[in-house]
Amino acid sequence: MCGIIGIIGKNQASELLIDGLRRLEYRGYDSTGIATVDDGILNRRRASGKIINLEKEILKKPISGTMGIGHTRWATHGVPSENNAHPHMTEKVAVVHNGIIENYRELADGLGLKPSDMESETDTEVIVHLLTQKLNDGKTPLQSVQEILPQLKGAFALCMIFSGHNNTMIGARVGSPLAIGVGDGETYFGSDALALAPYTQDICYLNDGDYVIATDDNIKIYDNSDKVVERPIVKTSLSGDSVGRGNYETFMEKEIHEQPTVIGDTLTSYIHPAKQTLTIPDLGVDFNKIEKITISACGTAYYAGLVAKYWIEKLTRIPVEIDVASEFRYREPPMFKNGVAIFVSQSGETMDTLEALRYCKKQNQKIISIVNVLESTIARESDAILQTQAGPEIGVASTKAFTTQLTVLLCLSLSIAKQIGKLDKKLEKEFVSALLELPSTISQVLAEADNIKAIAENVAKAKDVLFLGRGVNYPIAMEGALKLKEISYIHAEGYPAGEMKHGPIALIDDSVPIIASCPNDELFDKTAGNIQEAIARGGRVVFMSDSDGIAKMRKMTSTSFAEFCVPKINHLVAPILYSVPVQLLAYYCAFIKGTDIDQPRNLAKSVTVE
Ligand code: G6P
Repeated sequence: MCGIIGIIGKNQASELLIDGLRRLEYRGYDSTGIATVDDGILNRRRASGKIINLEKEILKKPISGTMGIGHTRWATHGVPSENNAHPHMTEKVAVVHNGIIENYRELADGLGLKPSDMESETDTEVIVHLLTQKLNDGKTPLQSVQEILPQLKGAFALCMIFSGHNNTMIGARVGSPLAIGVGDGETYFGSDALALAPYTQDICYLNDGDYVIATDDNIKIYDNSDKVVERPIVKTSLSGDSVGRGNYETFMEKEIHEQPTVIGDTLTSYIHPAKQTLTIPDLGVDFNKIEKITISACGTAYYAGLVAKYWIEKLTRIPVEIDVASEFRYREPPMFKNGVAIFVSQSGETMDTLEALRYCKKQNQKIISIVNVLESTIARESDAILQTQAGPEIGVASTKAFTTQLTVLLCLSLSIAKQIGKLDKKLEKEFVSALLELPSTISQVLAEADNIKAIAENVAKAKDVLFLGRGVNYPIAMEGALKLKEISYIHAEGYPAGEMKHGPIALIDDSVPIIASCPNDELFDKTAGNIQEAIARGGRVVFMSDSDGIAKMRKMTSTSFAEFCVPKINHLVAPILYSVPVQLLAYYCAFIKGTDIDQPRNLAKSVTVE
């Protein structure tokens, strides 16, 4: 959600902190701030809005010190404003915080604090007051942190610096992630390894409940029973270059265009291209004995899971239950003994998904996660991990993470079918070869991006847009609608085409564009029939299909409609390919409307709060 950076270095920290914050801005961007310790004294600069505002502030009032902390905020308690921006501080301590302190009111009452004693409306400020009280009582920074941590309820990552301590930083995590970067006589803190990539490749991930006291050349980690523990230092493959925009206008555009490459990379982990066989690692599950598979995720990752439900049920006949994680975890669904639960998450840190996973673990489910970040909490708490090779995804609206999730989920669905004897060698070859066609067919769609841009000129004027699909392509309609909403702020709904006559058809007139994802598959005639019903009522249809599908549709109606021709592809693989034109459509609508595509209002990339 929010981004945290901390540096204990040799050089002036402010520029490095700003650089780190820029890499974290995708996590939250409604206000920013930094604090340093210089000659034992705490200094702070903050600004509402984007990092550029903080840079201007620092230019006006420079801030020195070789040790400092920084924060980019996604508001939970308190509006986005300079007062609510982190770091929060007193003369004694400055704190940046990611997550939520649920019992902050009780804690403030316990300290006898009145609203007028508070500088901000945030939950974070109470931590500063708790620490200050301990420090005033003569406790050391470490003792103070040790005493207040058990009082905090909620999920949080914290990074703290103290007046009079030029070379001591303390971090803590419960729920929200925190990584420590180990440099050459320098130490870094970050809410993800991406922020630390330019400084060091040696990363130490704190376990849940850990806290750490660090100097420039030493880190000492404690677990939640105050025992000193060792956590491994791992090499991250991320480098400072992993997060550039290249020649693209936005990260989202770059990420859409990376899809042929990252899907190719992902496929190499799960299929043997020459032998045309599946090579999914052994997950330690005998699917012959599995009565039900449960899938849970949030946002775009949920739609990937929904496509997988169609795939798994069709290919394996094993029933699949799927729910958004925020519903799933509180619904407390009954689960079969020894079942399998699959979690899909780009970041591997989404709080609701993580809690749904923990619920399933308690129900003795085997946990398989499909994540992009191998070091993430979800990955670390899973029994088996299938990684997407999407690389860092910075644009808040997910694109390449989604199509690589789909790629992994299809490989998994096929592998389960193979294991239980429902996929013979011939079919395996057929599907593997269809998957291998994806990078080139997606490139063909991307080469036609200008056609989508032309269609977007019209769609961008609409107030409401309806996306339709059927069967395995119905979730693609929902994902198309989500993409459009997220970045262009146009209201959109994804609907199963067959349900249209039970409600949404009432909305149809020439002001509501209808985007139909309609591969030429066994449901084509049904979907095309539903589209005709919309055309007959004056609906402006954008019809996405292959050349045969478009030809058939032309024969079915004399009314003209906009069309986008998608390469022919195996029907099972189609949702992956048909994701790309709806991503492009959303992208160009937002581009035409001039919105902030990479950082849409109110959204954040990694939602580590409930
Ligand atoms: C946020 C992001 C979405 C993402 C969802 C789940 O809402 O804006 O793009 O799909 O979280 O994130 P995850 O990291 O779990 O895939």
